Amino acid sequence: MKIAIFASGNGSNAVKIIEHFKDKSQYQFVVLSNKKDVPVLEKAQKLKIETYTFGRKDFYETENVLDFLKEQKTDFVVLAGFLWLIPENLIKLYPNKIINLHPALLPKYGGKGMFGSRVHEAVIEAKEQESGITIHYVNEKYDDGQVIFQAKCKVTQEDTPESLAQKIHQLEHLYLPEIVEKLVKNW
Ligand code: GAR
Repeated sequence: MKIAIFASGNGSNAVKIIEHFKDKSQYQFVVLSNKKDVPVLEKAQKLKIETYTFGRKDFYETENVLDFLKEQKTDFVVLAGFLWLIPENLIKLYPNKIINLHPALLPKYGGKGMFGSRVHEAVIEAKEQESGITIHYVNEKYDDGQVIFQAKCKVTQEDTPESLAQKIHQLEHLYLPEIVEKLVKNW
């Protein structure tokens, strides 16, 4: 079983997933990123995970990324901090086998441009009393596919985008690896 993790930045969630499966040798990983020089690549390499980087053209105008995933015999795809819209050819290749992690309680605070600290700023600005994480299947729209799992946390008056991000990361690290395992085990 090969799991491809797409990530664009720090990669703390990618690392948590990989570590979660480290004693289960039937699960193999590859990490893909649309950015060079991001911490996730170095972290993956340290964990002896193969990495692959690609540009906008590779992703949207060619089959390069698709071909790489096929070559790798990828079975399942996790978007863990990946910010580009997934093209239709990829969604068709992996129907209900691509999941995304979003740092808010969708359908609120999702859509184009809603990622990372922007989400937390919007939640605080709206004086929400709770936020959380959403893990959902990916379709051709941003943050729109069927919800698989949500977990909540409180937002207090003292919270800043940074403190809220920390709470959200804790939830993500706790639940995302477990949910991935549940989904891939069912095959
Ligand atoms: C995570 O909080 C994830 O929910 C968010 O990016 C962060 C990546 O953190 N994703 C989005 O905002 C997608 N719209 P990480 O690089 O430390 O795993």
